Amino acid sequence: MYAQLVDTGVKSVRTDADLSPEERAFQARIDDGIKIEPRDWMPDPYRRTLVRQIAQHAHSELVGMLPEGNWITRAPSLKRKCVLLAKVQDEAGHAQYLYSAVETLGASRDAVYEDMLAGRMKYSSIFNYPTLTWADVGTIGWLVDGAAIINQIPLCRCSYGPYARAMVRVCKEESFHQRQGFDAIATLCAGTPEQKAMAQDALNRWWWPAVMMFGPPDGESVHSAQSAAWRIKLFSNDELRQKFIDQTVPQAEHLGLTIPDPDLKFNPASGHWDIGAIDWSEFYRVIKGDGPCNRDRLATRNKAWDEGAWVREAAVAHADKRRAREAARRQAA
Ligand SMILES: [Fe+2]
Ligand SMILES: [Fe+2]
Repeated sequence: MYAQLVDTGVKSVRTDADLSPEERAFQARIDDGIKIEPRDWMPDPYRRTLVRQIAQHAHSELVGMLPEGNWITRAPSLKRKCVLLAKVQDEAGHAQYLYSAVETLGASRDAVYEDMLAGRMKYSSIFNYPTLTWADVGTIGWLVDGAAIINQIPLCRCSYGPYARAMVRVCKEESFHQRQGFDAIATLCAGTPEQKAMAQDALNRWWWPAVMMFGPPDGESVHSAQSAAWRIKLFSNDELRQKFIDQTVPQAEHLGLTIPDPDLKFNPASGHWDIGAIDWSEFYRVIKGDGPCNRDRLATRNKAWDEGAWVREAAVAHADKRRAREAARRQAA
């Protein structure tokens, strides 16, 4: 879901005349819908763009566990607790597939992870908002995982094989995440007036950050053209955002909730819902590290990384021991 964070330094699409014969053959394969695999030749900017995009996606899955993990011990029933636990574990799995996909590009998992820990690499801005009530957990599933599906389904058809294949399974799991969130919110909406008010309050706080998840408007999105030519971005930010809005507005109506946008209006000419102005200054502020939870999220991940150092050391020592034992066995044979 996190393609909007990519900043590769690729400023414009190169024309056919600028391309080397290898680059031309590479682009022709992409244009024919043939997947690029790890051992295939690829231009450096393509590789760099993918490392950034997939690593940022992986970091987002991992940091995304924190706002909801915060509620596992406080879930309102055993059933909700089991579902939430499974969902948060799925997100850890998504991060693992994606870090593996990063490694297929020749990048080091630890290096990209340490870049995130040091604040040099980003993750989705949405996870820098706090989860104040149980309704926030349902709203994240409904809106944030809902937005993730819209962003990630096209990536199942992207040009890089390992990324596309990882997305197939990830999207199946995201669909479960979205349903469990909608179900939790539907339950609150059918409950007491206080429960319904809690659901409305969560929607009020998460709606605009969710709309911003699709990234800046197309006019400001400088890297989209090259990513589109490489088929690692199949729809524009604005197209994906509109899809999310058109899908979510009727769901809110069904729940009896009000989207916090006085300018929201169905446009019969376009067949889409028009929304009011997005406060992009908030998006850029949060992306730059000044959201409500940025420092807290990074501190939590850094603490886990530091406290897990002995596990990493033990794993390496165990692997070395096994290798030595295996070598000794082979020598004796
Ligand atoms: Fe996920
Ligand atoms: Fe998810």
